[in-house]
Amino acid sequence: MKNGFVIRSLNEIQFWSRIMKEHSFFLGLGFRREDTQLIDEANHFYKIFEGIEQKSYSFGENADPATILQFNKEVHTAVTYIWLFKRKVLGLILTCKLPGATNFPLLVDHTSREAKYFRKRLEELNEGKLEPLQDAIIDENVFFLKIMADHAKFIGHLLDPSERKLVEQARDFSQDFDQLLFQAKDLDSMRPQSQTVPLLDQFLDQNRVSVKSLRDFKKTASELINECKIKSIIHPLLADHVFREAERFLEIIDAFEGALTGKRPPKLDIHEA
Ligand SMILES: [Fe+2]
Ligand SMILES: [Fe+2]
Repeated sequence: MKNGFVIRSLNEIQFWSRIMKEHSFFLGLGFRREDTQLIDEANHFYKIFEGIEQKSYSFGENADPATILQFNKEVHTAVTYIWLFKRKVLGLILTCKLPGATNFPLLVDHTSREAKYFRKRLEELNEGKLEPLQDAIIDENVFFLKIMADHAKFIGHLLDPSERKLVEQARDFSQDFDQLLFQAKDLDSMRPQSQTVPLLDQFLDQNRVSVKSLRDFKKTASELINECKIKSIIHPLLADHVFREAERFLEIIDAFEGALTGKRPPKLDIHEA
């Protein structure tokens, strides 16, 4: 595929480096005033990923693949370091070394999983070995359904407890996605016999319905937060961040659907053609 490697690499880096940059910002917000070293580290990662994001926009579709291969390696190293930082912070929280800090352990773990995912994508791109479509469908859905289930839980816990209706809606989403995740794991354990076109097609359709509805809920929450219409400790950028991740998942579902049924050309081909 002409320029496919360059286009895919830049697309992943543009999306995920912004996400990594924002994670650094959120982690920084959750530390205590005296955690100056951790705050400095978070700020350091913010600058690193801001630089990577800017650099990624300086390349065009016709960039030399060898240059992009090298760029992917640089980004890979930065992602490894932010992953290590997140795991270190998780360790500090779980051993009660940061009493009073406000980053939930699940949130820190969640952001480290997103870093690991990003790093794996870079490795696959550079090694030129993408997963077969049928495997990619199950693996990507298992990953993103857990991400969506976590988002619903974060929203539920960061809304003010007096926002009873919204908290309940968030809890419903959390349960819905936990169910979908279990279903995905069932399909996973029934591999390869479960990897038929009708079953995978139905799997994608069912997931799409729930992701769209969660995406819309996040969009609404984001607007309400921006207009100061609801009570919460959700940063407006966090609301937008989780909305964008749902949009990403939807794009991936649509790309899989297109590749599976041959109806549409895949926009995000993260599997073997
Ligand atoms: Fe994220
Ligand atoms: Fe996330």
